[in-house]
Amino acid sequence: MSESPCLKVPKALGQKAITLVKRLNLLNRELKVKRVEDHLYIPLTSEPLPAHIEELEKSLPEFEVSASSFPERAKRPLKLADLLEDRLPPHLLTSLPRAIDFVGEIAVAEIPPELENHKRLIGEAILTTHKRVHTVLAKSGAVGGKYRLREFEVIAGVDKTETVHREHGCAYHVDLSKVYFSPRLSHEHDRVASKVRENETVVDMFAGVGPFSILTAKKRRNVRVYAIDVNPDAVHYLKTNINVNRVEKKVVPILGDARQVVEEKLTGVADRVIMNLPENALEYVNVACEAIKAEGGIMHYYEFTNAPEPLETAKNQLIEAVKQTGRNIKEILLARTVRVTAPYTWQVAVDAEVQ
Ligand SMILES: C[S@@+](CC[C@H](N)C(=O)[O-])C[C@H]1O[C@@H](n2cnc3c(N)ncnc32)[C@H](O)[C@@H]1O
Repeated sequence: MSESPCLKVPKALGQKAITLVKRLNLLNRELKVKRVEDHLYIPLTSEPLPAHIEELEKSLPEFEVSASSFPERAKRPLKLADLLEDRLPPHLLTSLPRAIDFVGEIAVAEIPPELENHKRLIGEAILTTHKRVHTVLAKSGAVGGKYRLREFEVIAGVDKTETVHREHGCAYHVDLSKVYFSPRLSHEHDRVASKVRENETVVDMFAGVGPFSILTAKKRRNVRVYAIDVNPDAVHYLKTNINVNRVEKKVVPILGDARQVVEEKLTGVADRVIMNLPENALEYVNVACEAIKAEGGIMHYYEFTNAPEPLETAKNQLIEAVKQTGRNIKEILLARTVRVTAPYTWQVAVDAEVQ
C-alpha cells in the first residue's frame, strides 16, 4: 500500500472523474483506484493546482481532494496505447501497430494509413516503451524483388538501418535496407538447425546473412555448410557473420545464383538442403534434388500459399515437383504453418526425405 493524494467522488461520477484526471495528467497509474462504500478514490500524482480545481469544478458537481492509502498496481511494461491515450483520438488507438519486429536496436513497425500523420509520435512512443531501441523504422512497402528487400522510413531515433541482431546465441550483422532478415523466422532457424546431424553436408540455397547456416555450424562439431546467396550485400554480411560467430571452418559462403552454383560445383554433395525462398521455391525443387546425394537426403522446403488447405497443397505440390525430377519423396517428415503473411496467406514449411 502507498499513501497518495486523491480525488474522492461519488461512484456515479467515477468514470467521468477518471477521464478528467487523465486529461489533466494527474492520474497516478502506479496505484489502483479503490472503492469505499458509495465513493471512488482516484490516486493522483500530486495535489491538484488551483487551475486543476477550476477544471474539476466545471465538470464534477461533487468531489473532494484528500489523501489515502492505495494498493499498488502490479508492474507491467508500459504499452504504446498507455503512452498515447491522451495524444491520439480514441478511434485511432485501436489501429496502433500490434506486431512490432525487433532487429537488434531497430524496431520495425507497420503504420496503418489512418495513422500516417501520427507516425513520428508513434515512433517516439516506441523509443520510450522499448529502452533498447535506438531507431524506429516504418515499413514503406511489401518485401519484393530478387533480393527480397523492403523499403523503410526512419520515423524516430538514430537515422540508420544497420544493426547487430542476436538469435539463439549467434550475432548477425544486418542492414535492413540491403539484405533480407526477419526475426519472425527465429523458431524455424532453430528448428532446422537442430535437425542437422554430425558429419552432414548442408546446402543452404538462399542463405541471406546466414541464420540457418551459422546456427547449424554452431550446434555441430563436424558439419560442412555451403551458404549461397545471389545478393552481394547479403554475402558481405554473411562473411562478417561467419567470422564474428567463428564458424569459418564449417561454413563456405558463395555469391551466386543457387541453380548455377549447384550445377557447377555442388551436384550430389548434400545430405540436407534448405530452401528458404518461399515465393519461388517450387522452381528450385529440381536444383535441390540435384544437390542431394544419390543415396538420398532431406529437403527443408518453404512456400507461400493461399490455398484453403495450405499444408496438404504444399505437400502435394512438392511431391509432384520432386517426381518430375525423376526422384521420389520417401517420407514427408513434417508440414507446418510458419506464419500468416497476409490475410488468408500462409508461409508453410515441409520437411521431406528424398530417395
Ligand atoms: C527469404 S530470404 C531468406 C534468407 C535467409 N534464409 C533467412 O532466413 O534470413 C531469401 C534469400 O534468397 C536470396 N536469393 C533469391 N534468389 C536467389 C537465387 N536464385 N540464388 C541464391 N539466392 C537467392 C535473396 O537474396 C535472399 O537473401
